[in-house]
Amino acid sequence: MSGEIPGGVPAEVPDDAMLQDIVTLACRAPSIHNSQPWIWRLHGPELRLYADYDRAVPVADPDNRQLIISLGVALHHLRVAAAARGLRIELTRLPSPPRPDHLATVQFVGGQTPTPADVERARAITERFTDRLPMGPAPDDRLGDLVDAVSARSRTRIVTLPADTHPTLAHASRISEFQRRYDATYHDELAWWTADDPDRREGIPPSSLTSASEADRVEVARDFPLVVTDHSRRPAVEVDHATVLVITGPGETTADHLACGETLSDLLLEATASGLDTCIISHVLEIEASATMIDNLLSSADPAQVLVRVGVGEGHRPPVTPRRPVGEVFSRM
Ligand SMILES: Cc1cc2nc3c(=O)[nH]c(=O)nc-3n(C[C@H](O)[C@H](O)[C@H](O)COP(=O)(O)O)c2cc1C
Repeated sequence: MSGEIPGGVPAEVPDDAMLQDIVTLACRAPSIHNSQPWIWRLHGPELRLYADYDRAVPVADPDNRQLIISLGVALHHLRVAAAARGLRIELTRLPSPPRPDHLATVQFVGGQTPTPADVERARAITERFTDRLPMGPAPDDRLGDLVDAVSARSRTRIVTLPADTHPTLAHASRISEFQRRYDATYHDELAWWTADDPDRREGIPPSSLTSASEADRVEVARDFPLVVTDHSRRPAVEVDHATVLVITGPGETTADHLACGETLSDLLLEATASGLDTCIISHVLEIEASATMIDNLLSSADPAQVLVRVGVGEGHRPPVTPRRPVGEVFSRM
């Protein structure tokens, strides 16, 4: 199918199989509680990305900040998938202000030969997973290269928290969980997204969560319902030595959150491609007291938007987390 993009250049829309392929890869994106709050629609020659607010996580994320960050991750995943398939695209973010749920329009503007880096990054989409076990330390040079490479491409800043901030981070993590100890609505919501049902195509399965003895070895982590087992995987790593990276940004508008999600995706995929493991951390930013503690660690005018533990997680890989069938999230108008 062909259409017209601004400037009069004909847009060639990939065939159905190719579109399904790149959307499927985009939907491997991580999302808050694996809620997958995205809708993809082919509208003439345009592929449009919409927010699905029915999949919001209103207690943990009352202002949908993390929902939009998740969509930014999916949008960047789509760019990576398209590049690896030899498709050149142009993105328009928030193209129709009267429809704030319409987050982006993708136009296909021709072909290009994928570079080895394009192919490697797309492979990272299928290799990446959220690693909640304790990790060994990331080598300093690899971490430095990662932060430099992603920062150079990003509108948002990435701050590497030095090891001596770890006690404050751990304290902030405990404070946020303590404040929620009696918040039944929060725990009900978390229980819903972590329900043990092998047929579910959303949420976080028990195989991706940790046992009590594993959770004890990672101080900066959301307290998910514990998996009842005597597992103590990755026993050689007695305590977590991951480095925490913080993506900061103005964080006031949907555009800010979308940009933050795109940077997050870039960071996760680049880390995976360079053999590092990652775990997104957001619970500390959901409570004002702990969010302020994190912001005070940053020499940044902008607040923290999302944190990522980065380390080396040899020796264990959980089964792949589920995703909704592509037919549920992608359709033609
Ligand atoms: C905005 C955002 C916030 C997240 N917050 C957390 C978190 O606080 N703790 C955590 O363990 N995982 C967090 N995750 C990871 C998701 O739970 C995970 O991506 C999802 O369950 C899918 O699993 P996968 O990443 O292994 O594919 C977050 C992901 C996103 C995009």
